[in-house]
Amino acid sequence: MSKDRLDVQMVKERVDMVSVISRYVSLAKTGTSHKGRCPFHSDDTPSLVVNAQKGLWHCFGCGEGGDLFSFLMKIERISFLEALERLAAEAGVSLRRRDDSAKEPLREIIAEAAAYFADNLTNDPGGEKARKYLLQRGYKQEVWKQFCLGYAFPGWDRLKKKFGKRYKVETLVNLGLLVKREDRCYDRFRDRIIFPIHDLSGRPIAFGGRAFEGEPKYLNSSQNPLFDKGGQLYGLLWARKEISSCRTAILVEGYTDVISASIAGIENVVGSMGTALTQRQADLLARFADEVVIAYDRDAAGGAASLRGMRILRNSGLNVRVAELPIGEDPDSFVSREGAEGMLAVIGESTPFHHFFVRSLELRYDLSTVAGKEGALEESRAFY
Ligand code: GTP
Ligand code: MN
Repeated sequence: MSKDRLDVQMVKERVDMVSVISRYVSLAKTGTSHKGRCPFHSDDTPSLVVNAQKGLWHCFGCGEGGDLFSFLMKIERISFLEALERLAAEAGVSLRRRDDSAKEPLREIIAEAAAYFADNLTNDPGGEKARKYLLQRGYKQEVWKQFCLGYAFPGWDRLKKKFGKRYKVETLVNLGLLVKREDRCYDRFRDRIIFPIHDLSGRPIAFGGRAFEGEPKYLNSSQNPLFDKGGQLYGLLWARKEISSCRTAILVEGYTDVISASIAGIENVVGSMGTALTQRQADLLARFADEVVIAYDRDAAGGAASLRGMRILRNSGLNVRVAELPIGEDPDSFVSREGAEGMLAVIGESTPFHHFFVRSLELRYDLSTVAGKEGALEESRAFY
């Protein structure tokens, strides 16, 4: 049997198929199998049947079916290898080391780019503007070091000129350092503060860049062979130890929210990097935490997007609470003014998910009317 086949078999034996599929579909036991509404078509009767004994699922509505790997590949839009890696991690199966050598040169280029940006910030006369900006935000040099902050110069081709001598332009485009538009090819990050994004082995894999003014305010690297966009959490590398020990993670939106909390001494903070939270991010967090306290700014916290985020977290088996910051504040501004004490008080008073959900229904439906009650029940039913 091939190495892959052995790995697959071992993972299949150890992972609980029903509990994995239950993260996406609510399943009810019927005899020897489980039934639920199929996530791959709009299904109002439970047409999805999961037979954990055989390790198979099938939908009698749309005809889809397969094993746990195909389920995960389909629902998360990931490759077979990614599905295998994730399930293996969950099952505690260590995969026989695959040949990762093709990625190694790419890792070196990103590391070199991170060092270049850091050097621009720390040592280059052209970095004065960035140094001033960070100091004025209260980020001292030791903070730049700790978070490996950097600066991308203005102009279209500073990085292209420097790196283009030694690396192929297509490689740099592939890594998201350069942007290619028709016949033009130029630096992605121009005149921006750089926040490197690291993987859990401590190596940079992508960058976020903040403009001083102008739009977009933040710009991230594109998906690249090292950077699984939507599968990363900013700051997890530094936060995971504290998260694993206290079992609680504080989830914020931004880079500066993570950094300012850390400066104040709150270390269990990770950033979703603005985008809508994904199931992969939630699963990643669930490897270290049992509970997540969402600390978004108020506008972000109220809306449907944030309820979706809570559902995703709960799908991963996480307890969810919502921290209620004063209106107009984000964790960065709040912790910078009120310190760790103020922030921890807000975290301590955070609202349990069910209170939050019921209150959000009360705000949006008139529960004194039949129609309002129906609407609220319908929404809760869809939620679970
Ligand atoms: P500061 O003004 O630096 O404190 O930024 P902020 O954290 O207050 O920014 P904001 O609340 O606008 O955004 C929070 C987070 O969302 C950022 O840290 C980014 O990760 C992300 N974000 C914001 N704007 C954009 C954008 O235009 N594009 C992308 N890709 N992400 C963004
Ligand atoms: Mn902010």
